[in-house]
Amino acid sequence: MENQEIIDKKIEKLRELKAKAKIGGGQKRIEDQHSKNKLTARERIDLLLDRDSFRELDMLAHHHSSDFGLDKNVFLGDGVVTGYGYMNGQKVFVFSQDFTVLGGSLAAEHGRKICKIMDMALKNGCPVIGLNDSGGARVQEGVISLGAYADIFLRNTLCSGVIPQISLIMGPCAGGAVYSPAITDFIIMVKKTSYMFVTGPKVVKTVTHEDLTSDQLGGAEVHASKSGVAHFTAENDLEAIEITRKLMSFLPPNNLDEVPLIKTDDPSDRLCDKLTYLIPANPNLPYDMKDIITELADGGDFLEVHKDYAQNIIVGFIRLGGRSIGVVANQPAVLAGVLDIDSSKKAGRFVRFCDAFNIPLLVLEDVPGFMPGAHQEWGGIITNGAKLLYAFCEATVPKITVITRKAYGGAYDVMNSKHIRGDLNYAWPTAELAVMGSKGAVEIIFKKEIENSNEPEKREAELINEFNEKFANPYIAASYGYIDDVIEPKSTRKILIEAFNLLENKVDTNPKRKHGNIPL
Ligand code: HXC
Repeated sequence: MENQEIIDKKIEKLRELKAKAKIGGGQKRIEDQHSKNKLTARERIDLLLDRDSFRELDMLAHHHSSDFGLDKNVFLGDGVVTGYGYMNGQKVFVFSQDFTVLGGSLAAEHGRKICKIMDMALKNGCPVIGLNDSGGARVQEGVISLGAYADIFLRNTLCSGVIPQISLIMGPCAGGAVYSPAITDFIIMVKKTSYMFVTGPKVVKTVTHEDLTSDQLGGAEVHASKSGVAHFTAENDLEAIEITRKLMSFLPPNNLDEVPLIKTDDPSDRLCDKLTYLIPANPNLPYDMKDIITELADGGDFLEVHKDYAQNIIVGFIRLGGRSIGVVANQPAVLAGVLDIDSSKKAGRFVRFCDAFNIPLLVLEDVPGFMPGAHQEWGGIITNGAKLLYAFCEATVPKITVITRKAYGGAYDVMNSKHIRGDLNYAWPTAELAVMGSKGAVEIIFKKEIENSNEPEKREAELINEFNEKFANPYIAASYGYIDDVIEPKSTRKILIEAFNLLENKVDTNPKRKHGNIPL
């Protein structure tokens, strides 16, 4: 045989093997996948990454098991597509489970492939994006599958706070398998086609007698609104991928790199006239804090995280002068913006993410205090509220607060006050920094005087007026330097951009220790 012919045959064999790997579980199963309104593992990667940038690794890996007929079911790639590529021009590592191969189930090789790219991502300071679509531990490979999951959990934990980790849930995700996404930074679930639970509806029915569908028990909407497990929901695979690309555009590749700076046409000295009359004169009336966020942001662009969960606090990403900024804002339009268990957990986790990845924080504050009541106390508002306090206290990224209206009670301290290392704290003229609202305050300190008055209601109203005049303003706090400046609402964007520029090389540290003990 001619040399050329020998080499051609070898190349032909390679091409055949790769073509076989690419077809996964076969055409019929690909059609089944499409019929469920799901894309295949490879189609998802193609849409996720910049055009033609994906480089696959371990395409020819396969399991070496023969138990329960597995020797007749060998698939190249072993049910997961792994590799690296570029997203918005930034290097990322990706794994995408292939449901067409043994239901995307995870066992030794499948797990080893995921661990390989995680190890490479950690060494090279690149994010990991996981596209999950799997029946869970491959039953035929038994405890080896469980071990493979644990290998991934360990890496998720070691990568935490070093490289961003994003999980897209695009199919089943059950049993202990849910804990890998849970350790990652953000979870994006696809409505109707994905679910996450520790035990499925059948076990739930046996144990608790609750009769629920998979969607009711652990669908995207449930996890986005009730449990807070999901940070984003998407109508379909494509939308989940678009959310991921947008989210990633705000993030640095690792904890040592700078946040991305994206050129913007939005002038940094743009005045926000819309903000001047946004706060209602009556402090009991709500307004939508999102109007302020979008007015301040470059191009009005705000990527809200956890949109449907604990809506009394808002968290998400904007850019100011091109720089990524994490926003934490009380929402007076929901429960008057009160801090409760869920909102404290939501915001605390977000603050810690931003701090881990050098993303400066902007706090927009209008908070009447912590939510009272037995439900909150028994649920641990003390421990959970402390999470947010702890998160702000330990954060060393640039931290700026703007108090738009109420900053009452302990919540004043918690929401990035100067005392816990807020770098620059501003207040609008409508701000009220006090131990509590004027009505409550007057009822406590003038109780006797009101009771003894001939016209108690009139006297109470007078005292409330007096109290408001004296205390419901930002000027006492300003006189102590507890806020750095009282600013006009329309100048807020300009002032914030200047302030974040000022703080861009900020250095602050915490004492050396193994790790702190956040009240979990
Ligand atoms: C091996 C599996 C599998 C698994 C699915 N398949 N899950 N093979 N191990 N875990 C196979 C099926 O046998 C089937 O193969 C093919 O994948 C497609 O599955 P279908 O059942 O036909 O698909 P569908 O009707 O869409 O149902 C999907 C499913 C169901 C809901 C995921 O397959 C299912 O309930 N699977 C078992 C889920 C499970 O209990 N996993 C273990 C969870 S505990 P054929 O060849 O017949 O088409 C766990 C622990 C993790 O994961 C612990 C970590 C610490």
